[in-house]
Amino acid sequence: MIQITDLTKKYGNFTALDHLTLTLPEGTVFGFVGANGAGKSTTFLILSTLLQPTSGTVVIDGIDITKQPEEIRRRIGYMPDFFGIYDQLKAHEYLDFYGASYGIPPAERERLITDLLELVNLSDKRDTYVDSLSRGMKQRLCLARSLIHDPKVLILDEPASGLDPRARVEMRDILRSLKSMGKTILISSHILPELAEMCDEIGVIDSGRLIAHGSVPEIQAQLAGDKTITVRVAGDRSAAVPVFEESPFVSNISLGAETGQLSFTFKGEDADQFQLLRSAVLAGIRIVSFSEDSADLEDVFMQITKGADHRESQAD
Ligand SMILES: Nc1ncnc2c1ncn2[C@@H]1O[C@H](COP(=O)(O)OP(=O)(O)OP(=O)(O)O)[C@@H](O)[C@H]1O
Ligand SMILES: [Mg+2]
Repeated sequence: MIQITDLTKKYGNFTALDHLTLTLPEGTVFGFVGANGAGKSTTFLILSTLLQPTSGTVVIDGIDITKQPEEIRRRIGYMPDFFGIYDQLKAHEYLDFYGASYGIPPAERERLITDLLELVNLSDKRDTYVDSLSRGMKQRLCLARSLIHDPKVLILDEPASGLDPRARVEMRDILRSLKSMGKTILISSHILPELAEMCDEIGVIDSGRLIAHGSVPEIQAQLAGDKTITVRVAGDRSAAVPVFEESPFVSNISLGAETGQLSFTFKGEDADQFQLLRSAVLAGIRIVSFSEDSADLEDVFMQITKGADHRESQAD
């Protein structure tokens, strides 16, 4: 559905996007994660035909974005990371204005606006002036606007930023229903855990380069490095220590606060892990539980983007 090849954007001498390559099948919900200044908005602006790339190509639904930008605009809905000022415009007039600019006939617009306001839970704000809506409501209105021409692809730049926890959950529900309609959705965020549960695929961008790409578990496995295993034994745990120490895959054994508990760093494949558990059991260690602590997504993100802040301060 979307093929991005060697996409590069330079602002003067500064390279904001550096040979970004990515393919997304139809119906994917793709989460684009990166620190401030990583290049998320730049990528989304190019995909939305609002910014010219310096080099590289983007093909959406078989159409090259620089060759047929009008065709692309019909297929995509873009939600920017800012709202803009719309004095003296009520919520339904705002949507009507955008509907008209996409050439949707008035009668159809009326029906569409009612449906969209319902989808984003703003039916009761139909006659409210846009400027007096709360930030979360404006964000939802902006999402409704990006849907007015029923695009196949949605490009949402930080749709959840600045939302309170309830509004975040609501935004997630709206995105879920859009996914079930078969739309291909690209969402950006600074926060990996925020995206994890709603995305099929995650891409991590750092200083204009895609440094990781895959499903959430793949990203975790790719980037988390060593894992920590916690074991609980019945009875004396000190007997267990030498057994684990023997393994070449184990290091940093520590005794936990709880009776019978110990943990260690494990570097190895699943088969090695199985062998370790087996040999401990065969050695007579009375293992009650043997569990892998899953890498914390926040930690993973900090680990892979470390240094980004430094580079950003140079860029600014
Ligand atoms: N119009 C511009 N002129 C010069 N440099 C720019 C321009 N727009 C963006 N940049 C630079 O390009 C880099 C990428 O910016 P971009 O807005 O794409 O980052 P981002 O990932 O969206 O960040 P944020 O999380 O803060 O929104 C930044 O270093 C930024 O300073
Ligand atoms: Mg941005």
